[in-house]
Amino acid sequence: MMTAQRRPTTQQHVPSPPRRVPRDHWPDATLALVRTGYPFIQRRCRSFGSDVFSTRLLLQPAICLTGADAARLFYDRELFQRAGAAPARMTRTLTGAGGVQGLDGARHAARKAMLLSLMTPARIDALAEATARLWESCGERWQRAEAIVLLDEARLLLARAVCDWAGVPLPAADAAARTGDLGELIESGAALGLRHWRGVLARRRAERWAGAAIAAARDGRLQPAADQALAVIARHREPDGRPLDERVAAIDLLNILRPTVAVARFITDAALALHTHPRCRDELRRSDDDVRCFVQEVRRYYPFFPFVVARVRRDFVWRGYRFPQRTRVLLDLYGTNRDPRSWQHPDEFQPRRFRDWPGDPFTFIPQGGDGFEEGHRCAGEWLTIALMEIAVRALTSTLTYDVPPQDLRVDLRRIPAGPASGFIMRRVRVRQAGE
Ligand code: HEM
Repeated sequence: MMTAQRRPTTQQHVPSPPRRVPRDHWPDATLALVRTGYPFIQRRCRSFGSDVFSTRLLLQPAICLTGADAARLFYDRELFQRAGAAPARMTRTLTGAGGVQGLDGARHAARKAMLLSLMTPARIDALAEATARLWESCGERWQRAEAIVLLDEARLLLARAVCDWAGVPLPAADAAARTGDLGELIESGAALGLRHWRGVLARRRAERWAGAAIAAARDGRLQPAADQALAVIARHREPDGRPLDERVAAIDLLNILRPTVAVARFITDAALALHTHPRCRDELRRSDDDVRCFVQEVRRYYPFFPFVVARVRRDFVWRGYRFPQRTRVLLDLYGTNRDPRSWQHPDEFQPRRFRDWPGDPFTFIPQGGDGFEEGHRCAGEWLTIALMEIAVRALTSTLTYDVPPQDLRVDLRRIPAGPASGFIMRRVRVRQAGE
């Protein structure tokens, strides 16, 4: 058995036998998780007075972890693996099976490097600038509408921009349906019942569509530029020299398109934050020096993915607790982003906290922790920030709008969460120069 405590202790003593991880009293806590939503791990950890507890989820043993130290542990690739970690209902909807998320070791490193090669500063700028132009042209269209739902419109805008950027054709007549499917994959990742099955069907359609684009790029019917995502993924080879299976290539192409569309949720959260904190809006309108801090605080404060999942690679002991091989482990993203040991007044929305934030990768983990290249941390984090900054500038400077009465409550039991109305905007207008 390995021990995960690497720092030497000052006292020499006989090691005590591993303690039992504090145990949830429920025979299976899946229902409790569904009923509690995002704060599930944080609340239980608080009641146990521990950063770790064990439970059963989906009838299987699981260990839940919260906090920065736990995040540092979770990203130790000697101790945790991703193969076989995600529940089947998640791979049937959100991620697909065979994509980068479920890989380990050399295959993961090669696939991740390929995806990260798409995220050069120049390519990120190109997509961000394309969305800036779309915010303006869509604004002109929205001027003619009585009202718009920001979540739906931002999804469509991002889908158009990312498909064009990636080299994937998206004819205007198909845009709403394809965007609907990409959105459905995100909405159904943690869903039960009908929403789950809608996600399964959306994934089948999306994989067929992305697979057809990969096939067309391979046989020359489509000719994306060499640095576009479609071209890079279509020509990628596994470490053994074989090209990616067409379906797996489709899944990794969707790993670029789907999460870019998902940024619409953070943009909707940003609109809600601007509405609830008019001082932030006024400050950003006067100067956008703090736009990065505002965007970071939106990503910290608003819930997106509640946790990430891995499996114990081999038995080890952490803080005296035994982690048995193969056990599923959930790392609490939501609670870690609001951990009072890392953040002062964590439940308050305070963008200024990011002015002197030292940049610790394990305290702020809305898109996972650890390094980009080696670990499973989100490959699209810098792109997300860039797209959000452009959107915040559009919402504060390019556009004016009214926010009519609507249901803006964020239900923490719904995953992913966001304002219930999707953020309705009325009387949208594009500001004229000098206004
Ligand atoms: C709404 C914004 C986003 C959120 C909340 C988000 C969140 C996450 C999370 C939690 C993970 C898993 C981290 C882990 O397993 O430890 C992840 C992984 C990933 N994300 Fe994102 N993401 C977002 C946007 C993006 C974008 C825009 C892209 C690409 C265009 C992207 C591509 C990926 C990929 C490829 C992975 C898998 C990385 C790996 O397993 O090595 N994400 N993301």
